[in-house]
Amino acid sequence: MQNSSALQVAIVGTGYVGLTTGVALAHLGHTVVGVDQDPGKVQMLREGRSPIHEVHLEDLLRASGEQLRFTTHLSEGLQGADVAIIAVGTPPKPNGEADTRYVEAVAREIAQHLTEGQRLVVVVKSTVPIGSNQRVASVIARVLRERQVQAHVSFASNPEFLREGMALYDTFYPDRIVVGTADDHATTVLRQLYRPLLEQTFTPPPGLPRPSAFPLPPLVTTDTTSAEMIKYAANAFLATKISFINEIAGLCERVGADVTEVARGMGLDTRIGSRFLQAGLGWGGSCFPKDTQALQAVAAEYGYTMPIIQAARDVNARQRKLMVEKLQRTLKVLRGRTVAVLGLAFKPGTDDVRDSAGMDVLRMLLECDVHLRAYDPVALDAAQRALPDMEVDWAYTAQEALEGADAVLIATEWEEFQTLDWAVLATRMRTPVVVDGRNVLNPAALRAAGFTYVGVGR
Ligand code: UDX
Ligand code: UDX
Repeated sequence: MQNSSALQVAIVGTGYVGLTTGVALAHLGHTVVGVDQDPGKVQMLREGRSPIHEVHLEDLLRASGEQLRFTTHLSEGLQGADVAIIAVGTPPKPNGEADTRYVEAVAREIAQHLTEGQRLVVVVKSTVPIGSNQRVASVIARVLRERQVQAHVSFASNPEFLREGMALYDTFYPDRIVVGTADDHATTVLRQLYRPLLEQTFTPPPGLPRPSAFPLPPLVTTDTTSAEMIKYAANAFLATKISFINEIAGLCERVGADVTEVARGMGLDTRIGSRFLQAGLGWGGSCFPKDTQALQAVAAEYGYTMPIIQAARDVNARQRKLMVEKLQRTLKVLRGRTVAVLGLAFKPGTDDVRDSAGMDVLRMLLECDVHLRAYDPVALDAAQRALPDMEVDWAYTAQEALEGADAVLIATEWEEFQTLDWAVLATRMRTPVVVDGRNVLNPAALRAAGFTYVGVGR
């Protein structure tokens, strides 16, 4: 796969974003070194095992051979590197601001390892508050000054738009690639890095065929601040879109409309579009909650309010509470009841439980003294690690979770839940009540199977 336009890339942080990006860049023919401070993770990756559940990731990791190596030493990754991509996490601080301390620490370390005359493009892929790219540049410049080393460092902001569970698909077939920089060299190098994606000249990896009539993605070049803002604005908009349909769903319930029909009818208007109009338990994960909060924190810094973002967040929080209320309305008394929660990952296709709506509902139900059974096809271990001291019976099959339960709540739309034999399960429960928090079951079929069916806005 080696070719003349191949670059040497160091990716710092091999989490959901860094690992997916590294594996994809290696497939495109670049030579990639993944750097992570976690020796356990690096060891796993060296053995060809993925620390995260993401479809096709492990196969592609194993197929990458010499193109992709892993280390805990940044200096090793930087040797001969053309590009260093920073993809470490930016967790929220107590005030909601994204914490850039890891990003800055990596920037400092990069500067400590740069050698005289080295040319490097430093790319920030982590989602960082407005102005952080400039901060990275000044941190690196300061360390180089202190060390009296002359290196030619260019900077670019290059936000990611990959969805967990679809991470490789989104990386290989992006809608657009955004590069924010004031430096022509950075633009040139990043255009070279992403050329196989921009021109779609790579061989699709097994299991990830190119969609038919896939339009070539544009490279959006802009200034760093706008690039940082594009990421936040896109995520805030998508989160708002979901909260909007969830708000409509509440009214649908009251007037007797079906929100899935409403969303279909709305979505066919090409100005609106049908995606991200799925009503339910609302959004979770490592991005929408954190990014909407971070956007507000930035706004607050400038004395500005963002009432739409606030409303989107409020509706999303209410959506989780409503689910508990629905259970309570149906079962009347919650205390002492046995409720099975199916789905703990924040969405299907991942083992990520960060800010998962299902996990939140689990916590709320525990506070109501409900006896809980929980099952997830892949996120069970992660859920147990996240709630180690909670009195939850972790079940290893959906059937086991439902046995003798008073109600079942679907919190994640795993396909597996749609194909369960609900007619048989109805006979195994104490009372066949299903609260479909993701509107994935067929209400008529469930009712025919003997269930009391409660959906969201239908
Ligand atoms: C990414 C982005 O970086 C974040 O800004 C965005 O909002 C969400 O996606 P993600 O890949 O999900 O984060 O983070 P995580 O899975 O936590 O991975 C971060 C990795 O960086 C971990 O493997 C961690 O060990 C590593 N790390 C962290 C370092 O190598 N060095 C550090 O200083 C900090
Ligand atoms: C998101 C962005 O989509 C992606 O571009 C990137 O910036 C990272 O953040 P991710 O959080 O991985 O991706 O998943 P996504 O598919 O966007 O789902 C986020 C949440 O919204 C999930 O909890 C999902 O269940 C929920 N969701 C999504 C809905 O409730 N309804 C929908 O119609 C779509």
